[in-house]
Amino acid sequence: MNILFCSGEAYPFSKSGGLADVAAALPKALNQLGHQVKIITPLYQQIKVHIVDMTHLGQVNIKMGLYEKLANYYAIDYEDVTYIFVENDDLFDRMKYYGYEDDALRFTFFNLAILEYIKLTNDFPDILHVNDWQTGMVPFFLDVKYRQYSKKFASIKTILSIHNLEKQGSYPLETEKLFGNKNFTYIHLDRVNFLKCGIMRANAINTVSENYTNEILTRFYGFSLDGALKSRREDLCGILNGLDQDIYNPETNSNLYKNYDESNFLEGKKINKEKLLSELNIQDNHIPLVIFINRFARQKGLDILMPVLEQYLADKKFNLIAIGSGDALYESYFKDLKEQYPDHVYYEKGFDVELSQKAYAASDIFVLPSLFEPCGLNHMIAMKYGSLPIVRETGGLKDTVTPYNKFTGIGVGFTFKNYDATELTEAIDQALDILHNDQEAWQALIKQAMHVNHSLEKMAKQYETLYLKTINQK
Ligand code: GLC
Repeated sequence: MNILFCSGEAYPFSKSGGLADVAAALPKALNQLGHQVKIITPLYQQIKVHIVDMTHLGQVNIKMGLYEKLANYYAIDYEDVTYIFVENDDLFDRMKYYGYEDDALRFTFFNLAILEYIKLTNDFPDILHVNDWQTGMVPFFLDVKYRQYSKKFASIKTILSIHNLEKQGSYPLETEKLFGNKNFTYIHLDRVNFLKCGIMRANAINTVSENYTNEILTRFYGFSLDGALKSRREDLCGILNGLDQDIYNPETNSNLYKNYDESNFLEGKKINKEKLLSELNIQDNHIPLVIFINRFARQKGLDILMPVLEQYLADKKFNLIAIGSGDALYESYFKDLKEQYPDHVYYEKGFDVELSQKAYAASDIFVLPSLFEPCGLNHMIAMKYGSLPIVRETGGLKDTVTPYNKFTGIGVGFTFKNYDATELTEAIDQALDILHNDQEAWQALIKQAMHVNHSLEKMAKQYETLYLKTINQK
């Protein structure tokens, strides 16, 4: 199949969250299955340095109401996948990807530019795979403007993947002046809503785990779109994200102080811990090491994590490494925590890949008490490195972290049910208790966690099935 994968971000050129990782990994895995997948994404400021290595494909003038903007297309191959970049410096030559006053214009432009790319190159995909709000308008523009041009346009099928329902691309109603066609499918609560439009228009929809697919049909997790999603229930499914087993492999990762596998993780992890902690000036390496590596967003459960961390640190129950950035409130919390407990806490703002990998290898416990979590990737990475996850039973976390069962020994981590600091504390206490008092069980858990294989191939095959089903429909 020929697939055009549309995303607001794609690793390694741009990344603000897990979407970027999936945008890179899924096309690669589908190509390995013999499909032809290209990625199309905006050319942001930090990508401009690569233009010298890219091929210029052409340009198109894009009309949006009173606005007219030029789209230039560039292509580059990276790891056997062609990345198409849409360039317009007025709109995308910026530091951040999203969060500007003119986002509605920027992403209307990008959505139209995707369809114009197809027209320009005559490279017709069987599937237009759009992701989240950033490309949610593509199915609409395809339906109202492009399908009429030719049979090839008319037969394109669209898939929408939802990685995050909270962010919807919701703008004042006047935004529709940019579209040239009026329609109710993009209207939600008297605003234009890019994601709702995708939900109503795409031929098929999926989220990134089965459990999250069921959750978003409820009021709490639906972020006001549960009604729209329910109306598409028949065309909605869950496909769990995969992890690139080549990249996230403690046996081969050159960033680690010592490589290890399922047979010698005890020694390997010990050396990684000693070296990393001494590098970070944390003296006491005999207590457990807990890590929090993620976007600093409300979604990630920081509001129940923050009130419990202090007591553990004050009692010297564990050391903590936090890596990430996001909301200023959370960033300053970790900054203060590091100042308060310099011997036990290390915090680094941003996403230092090398440091993160060292921390996964060095740590005993990875904590992620999410409020909601479509899939989550970092806890899967942690498991590969033998760092046991403590997570809330929500979204993809519930699908991927089988809790420790003391009678059978089954499990790969520790879980709790309600979004509640006390329940989180109980889960942490349970983990610490086993770590200190039942090393045999603890090591068996590590082995089981490292053994789990959410491969990219498994994920790609499920998308392949979804594409085929969608192509054969109607
Ligand atoms: C978003 C979600 C996360 C998911 C990722 C990739 O970042 O919050 O749960 O793993 O997208 O699908």
